[in-house]
Amino acid sequence: MKMVVAVIKHFKLDDVKDGLSQAGIQGMTVTEVKGFGRQKGHIEIYRGSSYEIRFIPKLKVEVAVPDERLEEIVQIIQKSAHTGEIGDGKIFIYDLKDAVRIRTGERGEDAL
Ligand SMILES: Nc1ncnc2c1ncn2[C@@H]1O[C@H](COP(=O)(O)OP(=O)(O)OP(=O)(O)O)[C@@H](O)[C@H]1O
Ligand SMILES: [Mg+2]
Repeated sequence: MKMVVAVIKHFKLDDVKDGLSQAGIQGMTVTEVKGFGRQKGHIEIYRGSSYEIRFIPKLKVEVAVPDERLEEIVQIIQKSAHTGEIGDGKIFIYDLKDAVRIRTGERGEDAL
């Protein structure tokens, strides 16, 4: 299994959620986060100017997926969160060792 963690723009959440649920994903976690990327929170970088870094609010979407669905799910998130403007976000992928569905005790992919 893999844990897919996407940092996205707030207004893209519905598109990402709809894309994932249409693909049959049964759960996801969303968290409000703050961060910065290459522009360090600024729209423009002026040569020679030293700006303080600004944290920009984003949403973090976490979804656990079976290995064989990883590329499909990453594609769905990338397409649905994409505007082409700076700050569209990033997708990080972790190995996920196990999962437990608390109500039933199911483990691994059965728990997803
Ligand atoms: N290397 C990183 N490590 C952890 N989080 C990151 C990293 N890069 C970006 N993020 C997170 O993703 C958010 C959006 O990043 P952003 O899309 O601006 O990245 P970028 O590399 O600057 O790309 P772009 O040039 O398209 O803006 C950041 O606010 C931060 O929360
Ligand atoms: Mg950026």
